[in-house]
Amino acid sequence: MSVPNVQNIRAAVIGWPIAHSRSPIVHSYWLREYGIEGSYERLGVPPEQIEEFLRTFERTGLAGGNVTIPHKEVAMRMCDEVDEAARLLGAVNTLRYEDGKLYGSNTDGIGFLGSLDAGAPGWDKAGGVAVVLGAGGAARAIIWALISRGFSPIQIVNRTVERAQDLVVRFGSGTQAHSIDVLPDLLPKAAILVNTTSLGMNGQPSMDVDLDLLPDNALVTDIVYVPLETDLLARARKRGLRTVDGLGMLLHQAVPGFEQWFGIRPKVTDALRAAVLADMGFSADGTSKKEPQA
Ligand code: ATR
Repeated sequence: MSVPNVQNIRAAVIGWPIAHSRSPIVHSYWLREYGIEGSYERLGVPPEQIEEFLRTFERTGLAGGNVTIPHKEVAMRMCDEVDEAARLLGAVNTLRYEDGKLYGSNTDGIGFLGSLDAGAPGWDKAGGVAVVLGAGGAARAIIWALISRGFSPIQIVNRTVERAQDLVVRFGSGTQAHSIDVLPDLLPKAAILVNTTSLGMNGQPSMDVDLDLLPDNALVTDIVYVPLETDLLARARKRGLRTVDGLGMLLHQAVPGFEQWFGIRPKVTDALRAAVLADMGFSADGTSKKEPQA
């Protein structure tokens, strides 16, 4: 990969609707931090235009960008080349345009791993059983990430057990599918528990998980980051378990894209976290100052 000229390079997040994407806050922060004269825009592209948009990507003048809901699967089809993670997950979240070709990758799993490596160093040393709550797009990336670090088996627990079974077909014998009522049997052996469902998000109930059943050295993490400390994480912390919040995944998944477009590998720092939290209406410790926007 050639190192781009870091003057006036443009990137964007592409989705529909796009107003609530937090990616511009993260990338604009890094552009300022590293003194790069580039830009990172929000681009709303409706579903009926996304294929044409990606087919004629050169016209945009963008070096690349992020792809978000609902375009991640279309982007997968439209790229000239995709990386292994994108192929396995069936979704692209990062684009790079170079020498007339559109390259796609999926950095969600890398973001999950980066967040845990930073928030709970050594978390993957002993490996073991992972329990994943949920079987949507986020679960896919996390299962891929956990497999890459040697966790086995990965117990996928979902309200709709058929969706968990689909993931077992996708990921193979290291994964098993379960309905939620089996959770009490799975927790005593878990080295890590990950919530990938939207439960626990502001305005939603929390998932009913008896954390007393987890081993004392288990790690609990959540992809929900509004609130920053979900009920699940708060209960895990009070039980004395290690916890990692969901904001880290959002920040770390942005690192590879920024590096590809602007040529500098950016750092996820406390100051970046504070900037994103402030934009969401939170104080730096994640305590709400005002009602956050959706
Ligand atoms: P994403 O791509 O962001 O992961 P998704 O595909 O809509 O989003 O998946 C959301 C996950 O949260 C699913 O596992 C979903 O369970 P179902 O597959 O049974 O729908 C889970 N989820 C959402 N609301 C839930 C609820 N009230 N109770 C239990 N699980 C819920």
